[in-house]
Amino acid sequence: MLVLLSASRGAARAGLGRAAGVRLQSSAAGRLAVLGATYPTDGWTNTTAAILDKTGRGLLHQPSHPLAILKDLIFREFPGYAHYDSLEPVVTAQQNFDSLGFAPDHPGRAKTDTYYINRDTLLRTHTSAHQLQLLAAGARRDGALLALAKNGSAAPGNERFLVAADVYRRDEIDASHYPAFHQVEGVCTFARSEIRDLLRRANGSASAAAAAADSGVEAASTAAALSDATVIGAGNPIQPEHAAEEAVFLAEHMKRTMNRMVVGILAKAVDAQKTSGEDPAGGFPVRWIDAQFPFTSPSWEMEVQFQGEWLEICGCGVMKQFILNDAGMPDRVGWAFGFGLERLAMLLFGIRDIRLFWSSDPRFTAQFSPGRINTFRQFSRHPPCTKDVSFWLPAAGAFHENDLMDLVREAAGDLVEGVRLVDSFTHPKSGRVSQCYRIDYRSMDRTVTNDEINAIQERVRDSMVRRLGVELR
Ligand code: PHE
Repeated sequence: MLVLLSASRGAARAGLGRAAGVRLQSSAAGRLAVLGATYPTDGWTNTTAAILDKTGRGLLHQPSHPLAILKDLIFREFPGYAHYDSLEPVVTAQQNFDSLGFAPDHPGRAKTDTYYINRDTLLRTHTSAHQLQLLAAGARRDGALLALAKNGSAAPGNERFLVAADVYRRDEIDASHYPAFHQVEGVCTFARSEIRDLLRRANGSASAAAAAADSGVEAASTAAALSDATVIGAGNPIQPEHAAEEAVFLAEHMKRTMNRMVVGILAKAVDAQKTSGEDPAGGFPVRWIDAQFPFTSPSWEMEVQFQGEWLEICGCGVMKQFILNDAGMPDRVGWAFGFGLERLAMLLFGIRDIRLFWSSDPRFTAQFSPGRINTFRQFSRHPPCTKDVSFWLPAAGAFHENDLMDLVREAAGDLVEGVRLVDSFTHPKSGRVSQCYRIDYRSMDRTVTNDEINAIQERVRDSMVRRLGVELR
């Protein structure tokens, strides 16, 4: 889901059992083909055909797609950064986890959360997977990688860069969760000597130094009311490798930069709402809260308030120094952020169902044009078809909900709109647990027939018995 790989998420999930994972329908025995390359499979392989289908869609490269429009708006807010948007989603566990300091038992690594191609290879779960790789490419002047930047001359050594890309996480199914989504990573580094100079010239004031280093114009906008009550301290500490004023400088510079970007983008959305006759009601409040990530400290999350709810749109923080050291630049320090595009796009364009991003229905695609945020007009939805499935959990071994989610997606593709637990009870005598899940099927572009959904539901029930070891009731 869009919830980022924060420690809180990890803690929440640490208690969950780890199931064997949905087995593959398997292309060739023991090999899996992804984007033209083949990989050996093993006991870790849990990437389904339904997911592989998404890896080649290239939504960020369709200029009129809302996600690409948002990506372009963000890129435009960062003219001095190198822009990457064509890095392939297959990465190593080293890139995705180890290079960022994930502990060996970090829950984000679990098979229940990540799509593995094999033990060492996976579909990236976040764009942070490219942090070390791109910094090292800059330090080494690795021409082949640097050439992938669309505007390489802006930051020829990747001192500052953005990466927009598709990312993948095993998750539940509903209108705001989808196992494939998009992020934009931002990384900004400074020579430590440059920060010392800026601080000296600002008489030691980190905020004044950050303002001086920030070439952008302060956004005087009513589009967002910003609030920040976070404090750097024991719970969200400065790294021992950093001087306090250095870390505070980085944090201030990062927050200024991100506030300006978000305010700039939200202002466009407020304009769109005015045009469409809706009342923007004071814009979108934005707030900063403390967070934790293995690869930043201190760390924060940025949230936007939408229809009374705070939505997390971004994780960020001061980069762990070992990443810069490993990249071959111990004399630099930096900050990083990771923005989720779908949530922001849903809010900006008024798109209520995350599956729509993957729809090729012209009634969706024809509503958008490059560079423009406009409010999506919902076209009439086709009727849903709902089926329940009740079963006893396996007597031995684990059952993990995400295995059921992938199994339903495999059988139904994008016809599945939601899967949710509606009932659970423990038999008083046998102690066995019975659960009932409700599956909502609906097509984005036609009315589904009861017969076709029955056939899909039969396949789901069948695979549940074969692959998840449950006993149907
Ligand atoms: N990669 C993190 C996530 O997806 C977000 C993040 C990026 C946090 C960069 C800090 C710095 O959860």
